Amino acid sequence: MSVFKANILDGQVALVTGGGSGIGETIAATLAAHGAHVGICGRKQDRLDQAIERIAQTNNHQGGSLFGIAADVRDPDAIQKAVDATIERFGRLSILINSAAGNFLAPAATLSPNGFGTVVDIDLKGTFNACKAVFPHFRDQNGGNIVNISATLQYLGTQMQIHASSAKAGVDALTRTLAVEWGPANIRVNAVAPGPIDDTAGMAKLAPKGMKDKLTAKIPLKRFGKRQEIADTVLFLVSPASSYTSGAIFVVDGAQWLAMNTYV
Ligand code: HXC
Repeated sequence: MSVFKANILDGQVALVTGGGSGIGETIAATLAAHGAHVGICGRKQDRLDQAIERIAQTNNHQGGSLFGIAADVRDPDAIQKAVDATIERFGRLSILINSAAGNFLAPAATLSPNGFGTVVDIDLKGTFNACKAVFPHFRDQNGGNIVNISATLQYLGTQMQIHASSAKAGVDALTRTLAVEWGPANIRVNAVAPGPIDDTAGMAKLAPKGMKDKLTAKIPLKRFGKRQEIADTVLFLVSPASSYTSGAIFVVDGAQWLAMNTYV
């Protein structure tokens, strides 16, 4: 049962990149459950269709509809087409969630330039591409709402994450810059920085079986987060409850990164 009003996003239309799995899928489901029509993007159409089927089975609500558009955020033309298709289908677009990301564990010494570049291309340049694609529409309708999914890796020197840390640091910079440049067009730009979240590809790769207990012990809230807890923060950020919030990066990690120097 959501703590938000069921129709809080009535009349809104959202595009969620990376909406075919993990945190992006839960964000898409949550926005739709609260009344928004939602386009989801990902590389493979069948995975998008499966996600929409899963959402339909679990969302017992009268919310907005969902549709999937295959597009790789690394391809500016493809992402522009996905934006245009969403506007054509639902008549407008008011929310962009940049949730597409790629990651793996690799030490800097052996990571190839292409490996580094691939993650920067997906996480950082992909976010830029999608923001650019929605901007003319948001400007012309005098408003819009962007939420970028960041991380906390980049606050410290996280081993084996030079590629993702560099990309997410860029996402944070991009969030702040666009909030300033596009604020006069009534476009809010914020980010959510999740910590360890259960049931995600990220955690499956970064915290394989056996590491979870060790990691959990160091989290002040003594548990991993849930995908729904990230989606609810996104919902807050696209709702009128945060109407004066822009350029903010909301850390949702059970205070994990702040506790890195806790020895007792
Ligand atoms: C070292 C690797 C590697 C690995 C790929 N590469 N995996 N290097 N260790 N484990 C290198 C390849 O060798 C290649 O470089 C380059 O990266 C591109 O690899 P491709 O497989 O061709 O790329 P692509 O098919 O585009 O796949 C992108 C991907 C993949 C990122 C590598 O894992 C992917 O599509 N991931 C999407 C799903 C995902 O990862 N989700 C989790 C996000 S978690 P060379 O030099 O050989 O050509 C997240 C959370 C962050 O973002 C915060 C957590 C707390």
